[in-house]
Amino acid sequence: MPSWEQIDAVPGWFSFQSFCVWRAFLDEQAGVTGDLFEIGVWKGRSASMLASYRKGDEKLFLCDRRLDESVIRNSIRTVGAEPKNVEFVEAFSIELPGRLDLKAMHHTVRWCHIDGEHTGTAVYRELELANRIVAPPGILVIDDFFSPRYPANTTEVVRYLEKNPHHFRLLAVGFNKAYLCRPESLPRYMDFLATGMARSMKKYGWKATIYKTTGPWDMDAVGMDEFIDAAGFQVGPDDDPHHWHMIRSRHVWSPWRHVREFVKRTLGG
Ligand SMILES: C[S@@+](CC[C@H](N)C(=O)[O-])C[C@H]1O[C@@H](n2cnc3c(N)ncnc32)[C@H](O)[C@@H]1O
Repeated sequence: MPSWEQIDAVPGWFSFQSFCVWRAFLDEQAGVTGDLFEIGVWKGRSASMLASYRKGDEKLFLCDRRLDESVIRNSIRTVGAEPKNVEFVEAFSIELPGRLDLKAMHHTVRWCHIDGEHTGTAVYRELELANRIVAPPGILVIDDFFSPRYPANTTEVVRYLEKNPHHFRLLAVGFNKAYLCRPESLPRYMDFLATGMARSMKKYGWKATIYKTTGPWDMDAVGMDEFIDAAGFQVGPDDDPHHWHMIRSRHVWSPWRHVREFVKRTLGG
């Protein structure tokens, strides 16, 4: 697997914090089989991460309106991976439904990264495409979420989620990206965020504070941000006396959750 130094040597925008978050989630997907997909490749920085995690017959789809295949293949090699089973699709994302075999790709993708045009129109249509291809245990990553440079990128993701509550749910937000999953996979990934994420990111050199500032009566999503000593690795819900009775009944971060998860992992259940 690539080190941060290897990824950082490839030009692009993918940050160290996202490197740690991706490694943690992609490690968690070790038992999941499915293709990997990216819109917005540039010189292949984040794509090199995905190429490193591609296993067996899985395919890596790299889509960009402008693709330099030899540069991207070279980037993948420099991080120690082989550019095998890579499908390059040079097209505007809006053209992808007409360029891909969507019947064959139906719900086959376990990791989908959207990092292209960032306009509202484009991201909404990219989400429609993602709904066709992302598998039930898949993770969908949206770049520049909450970025003040691209307000429509955020408002249109939220609009899509509101209009299609059974397609994707917001799982986490952190370090400029949103992480979405299928509603049925939310409990699995929430358990991971509550019990394994902080440890896994730390393994790759990044200490983050994971915020669960509210309860499931509001929303499930967690936030990830710079590590704060006073808060520790995980913090939440925020003190709000009005909701204490709810917190007691379903405390996502309770120690029992950790014990149960540990037993489940140890016994392989
Ligand atoms: C920020 S860069 C991607 C960064 C890359 N993921 C990395 O790790 O460095 C955005 C890319 O999106 C591509 N792009 C912009 N608009 C697009 C569109 N409508 N369809 C497909 N690709 C697009 C650009 O050509 C550019 O390569």
